[in-house]
Amino acid sequence: MARRLELHDWNDLPSTEERGDGWAVALGNSIEVLEKLPPRSVDLVFADPPYHLSNGGTTCQSGRRVRVDKGDWDQSNGLLADHSFQLGWLQACRRVLKPSGTLWVSGTQHVIFSVGYAMQELGFHLLNTVTWFKPNAAPNLACRMFTHSTEILLWAAPMRTKPLAHRFNYREMKQRNGGKQMRDLWLVPTPGPREKLHGRHPTQKPLALLERVIAASSNPGDLVLDPFAGSGTTGVAAVMAGRRFLGVEMDPAYLDLAARRIRAVEAPPGAEARAG
Ligand SMILES: C[S@@+](CC[C@H](N)C(=O)[O-])C[C@H]1O[C@@H](n2cnc3c(N)ncnc32)[C@H](O)[C@@H]1O
Repeated sequence: MARRLELHDWNDLPSTEERGDGWAVALGNSIEVLEKLPPRSVDLVFADPPYHLSNGGTTCQSGRRVRVDKGDWDQSNGLLADHSFQLGWLQACRRVLKPSGTLWVSGTQHVIFSVGYAMQELGFHLLNTVTWFKPNAAPNLACRMFTHSTEILLWAAPMRTKPLAHRFNYREMKQRNGGKQMRDLWLVPTPGPREKLHGRHPTQKPLALLERVIAASSNPGDLVLDPFAGSGTTGVAAVMAGRRFLGVEMDPAYLDLAARRIRAVEAPPGAEARAG
């Protein structure tokens, strides 16, 4: 029998959704979907929001100069409107987080300062600023600055408490790091073709990154939420690790892709590449 997500008003979620054993991805705007969830019901949020960088610039893809165009959802509406967007969804996430839960947000220089400031405005308690180093980052074609090869992951509790209430699987992280305390610099390659078997998303995160986030800050059975599910990487990592998962995605094509990827890891082994 399917494991229920155990959200009291689950039936109020948008009717267009994909779901399976202990997971669902809802189609819609994340703020509107999150409004339907009970307060303090989520153990862990991972959010990879729009970075607002698709504004006519160029980047290097497979050795060629191409325009940065991730989609309409990634276009900037100006500094203040972009900041107010970040504030809005962060506030919605803070409401649904349990006091023992935490929130991770990924970003580059285009967005991370706004996200960090919004988190401080809302009363989040910042725990770490993890630097994700991509050893296989694309070269910089302009040669007028250093090659971009990192992203920031802000990790925060919904509020400051004494003693600290948040989940951190310290021992597991230390064990994964050869018996030494894990530091806040993580080397993880960008996803290869084996993680794109079910289709492509322009900003897909590596499975290994999400596996570590989920292992560090949640327990089996916990509910993991991704308000910007995209290709469903968070859902894949969550289901593989025995967590429950709720994703929100506003593009039906990406919703389908996310569902295909999550179903593949529910199925017998071998269907989805396990990240190293
Ligand atoms: C940066 S991508 C996330 C990629 C994802 N981490 C992955 O590994 O595939 C952001 C996603 O959020 C979706 N999105 C943007 N604004 C949204 C909103 N207000 N509500 C729900 N989804 C949104 C976009 O369609 C896009 O797929």
